[in-house]
Amino acid sequence: MAESSRANRGWWDRNADDYQVEHGTFLGDDRFVWGPEGLDEIEAELLGPPEELKGKDVLEIGAGAAQCSRWLAAQGARPVALDLSHRQLQHALRIGGSFPLVCADAGDLPFADASFDLACSAYGALPFVADPVRVLREVRRVLRPGGRFVFSVTHPIRWAFPDEPGPEGLSVSASYFDRTPYVEQDEEGRAVYVEHHRTIGDRVRDIVAADLRLLDLVEPEWPAWNSSEWGGWSPLRGNLIPGTAIFVCARD
Ligand SMILES: C[S@@+](CC[C@H](N)C(=O)[O-])C[C@H]1O[C@@H](n2cnc3c(N)ncnc32)[C@H](O)[C@@H]1O
Repeated sequence: MAESSRANRGWWDRNADDYQVEHGTFLGDDRFVWGPEGLDEIEAELLGPPEELKGKDVLEIGAGAAQCSRWLAAQGARPVALDLSHRQLQHALRIGGSFPLVCADAGDLPFADASFDLACSAYGALPFVADPVRVLREVRRVLRPGGRFVFSVTHPIRWAFPDEPGPEGLSVSASYFDRTPYVEQDEEGRAVYVEHHRTIGDRVRDIVAADLRLLDLVEPEWPAWNSSEWGGWSPLRGNLIPGTAIFVCARD
């Protein structure tokens, strides 16, 4: 857990500028998009009807430049945007917004119990942590009873395919069941970027182990309007296999 966090903090600090240049236009400054398919919270309503967000305390985990928090604030919610990377949060400051930004690890949330009505994460933290149950337990702890946590991750089936947008990304090249993390290392063998794979079953068991209840698993289909590529996500692959999994969980 500590090595993954250290590696990913450094990676996101070094790469935040490029990430925002490459994806900032697609993400928009104040749009809440769940993944490269472009599914928007305003149509998905996975956190509930937008008109019911007013006055809600919402924690965004792995917020990056806090685009989702900005959309939440525009609906009248009270978001808090948390990220491990200081540089990502500097982009949040650059774009602006009158809500708190918190630099912290999702595995160690610096909030009192029952501080939030809702929590959300669009590709933030969960794909990168070695101990997802710890993160889910932390989220449960800071949620109020009746609260919801909705998070998106790379769809687990993508682990079995090369991360390529073209035809070479359509043939299975690895075992879906191989949980060995993807690690990039420097010359001294220190991890500088880490992604952790969980199968669909693992994710369900993680949610149950954290004492959350799974309400829905959304697999957004690739929409006809979206002709853009994002790394290995493309119209070609998106029309054949899912690219994003969104888990909708409740805290009883
Ligand atoms: C793919 S970006 C997603 C950012 C934003 N939600 C978006 O859609 O652009 C992943 C974010 O998760 C953050 N992150 C990675 N590991 C984390 C951790 N352990 N705790 C909190 N944030 C983390 C990274 O710093 C990065 O900003």
